[in-house]
Amino acid sequence: MVCLGNICRSPLAEAILASKLPSNLFKVDSAGTGHWHVGQQPDSRSIETAFKRGLDITSHRVRQIQSQDFETFDYIFVMDDSNFKNVIRLAKKPEQKLKVQRILNVLFPGEIVNVPDPYYGSQNAFEQVFEVLDKACDVIAQQLMENHSK
Ligand code: 4NP
Repeated sequence: MVCLGNICRSPLAEAILASKLPSNLFKVDSAGTGHWHVGQQPDSRSIETAFKRGLDITSHRVRQIQSQDFETFDYIFVMDDSNFKNVIRLAKKPEQKLKVQRILNVLFPGEIVNVPDPYYGSQNAFEQVFEVLDKACDVIAQQLMENHSK
């Protein structure tokens, strides 16, 4: 799961998807395209939003996406179109570019719909981010489990 800062959206996406999958079968992680917050905890508003839904993201530490991630992970979900362009630019091989998907494509196929950046928003913006990520992760988890059992 990738966003810009790895403090607001992608730590939520990571925790939500991980909560819907068996941890012995899937590795879920998150990273930012930017370096500004490396080593920090998620934004307190994301921590609060997750906590209210029974998810604890306090142990996450911000990291920046790196080339190795294209080898480690089968799928790279980005939150918005800016993340998409930045991550595609880092991919070296065509098969790596194919791993990069806009997360809301699973809800709005063929459209470019962004998970809005809540950093300058209110607590309510974080709640809305959680709700849309929860819906998207329901679909992603179902697809991953279906593929896994094939
Ligand atoms: P995120 O939100 O990409 O969802 O983690 C942001 C966090 C920090 C900044 C921008 C967006 N920032 O400019 O520092």
